[in-house]
Amino acid sequence: MNQTNHVCLLPGDGIGPEIIAEGVKILDAVGALSGVTFTYSEALIGGIAIDKTGVALPKATLEAAQASDAVLLAAVGGPKWDTTDPGKPRPEEGLLGIRKELGLYANLRPVRLFPALAEASPLKADIVAGVDLLIVRELTGGLYFGKRERFFDEVGCGTGGLPGQRAFDTLEYREYEVERILRHAFDAARKRTKRLHSIDKANVLESSRLWRECAHRVALDYPGVELIDMLVDNAAMQLVKCPRQFDVVVTENMFGDILSDEASMLTGSLGMLASASLGDGTALYEPSHGSAPDIAGKGVANPLAQILSVEMMLRYSFGLDEAADAIVAAIEGVLAAGWRTRDIASPDTPPDRIIGTKAMGDLVAVTLQQ
Ligand code: IPM
Ligand code: MG
Repeated sequence: MNQTNHVCLLPGDGIGPEIIAEGVKILDAVGALSGVTFTYSEALIGGIAIDKTGVALPKATLEAAQASDAVLLAAVGGPKWDTTDPGKPRPEEGLLGIRKELGLYANLRPVRLFPALAEASPLKADIVAGVDLLIVRELTGGLYFGKRERFFDEVGCGTGGLPGQRAFDTLEYREYEVERILRHAFDAARKRTKRLHSIDKANVLESSRLWRECAHRVALDYPGVELIDMLVDNAAMQLVKCPRQFDVVVTENMFGDILSDEASMLTGSLGMLASASLGDGTALYEPSHGSAPDIAGKGVANPLAQILSVEMMLRYSFGLDEAADAIVAAIEGVLAAGWRTRDIASPDTPPDRIIGTKAMGDLVAVTLQQ
């Protein structure tokens, strides 16, 4: 096979540069094994982009992403750029901007427990055993992109009738946005166990009522798939009570953000959760976790979510399913042999099995080549 794929790398902030290096290591290992060539370009996003250019998503970054076959992103953000001032740039604007500009409306977050990690979850091993679900999060609508504003000095907004501030965000969805993400989720469900939970807050929110109506209309086109409506508060509870009831879960942007962090605990660590953001053009792959500024530069971050994002890239952008399966098998092998980064270590992990970012990447790469 003679395939050349160009990948745009966006390391971002915090642990980003450390973990993306391990992702590239795995891509290179796949290239050496399969004869596929990966070429790379690197661009700025997030806090580092604000420092160097004044904005979180420079035009050159967007152009490099659009010109690539796939984008691999690590993480953005950090205390240095934290601000509540609406006039100041925020690293997260880079992430939201690239999602919007590339039209990445479908965010897939697989939540799969590697059997060796049952003891790493803060939940009981018998609750998390066999967990394998897929969260399909709508990514370019809802509260993240709705009209928002902050008003100053409005009479009656402050305590005791004094002038104060008022702020609002808007949760808005158009029918086509709801329908296309639901179709994506139904398609995924059809390929898996044919069970789809649609999560909403239809007992309160109008946008959720539209969502629920759409879900039932789209369901008519998928007679083989069972559709289950669930309210988001109940879903948050059910996820930790009985996670195996879920297979594919579809939900709006912010509910998906919150539920996916919660669901990551079923896998042992947020450091295990990868994601693929898909639209109609170039796709983007990134861990679901943040930039972990507290451990940045220490070489201890778990690179597996980044490596699993590479796995998703191989599957969804390049059709290299065999190589993707081999990455999963390699990770399984490394974990089964007892190797752990510290976030997935349990109290009985021998200290000499607790390794850093680079060593974990090396082990996965070596196992892949065996
Ligand atoms: C995620 C992150 C982002 C989000 C932040 C960093 C803007 O939490 O990808 O889940 O809220 O979407
Ligand atoms: Mg999140």
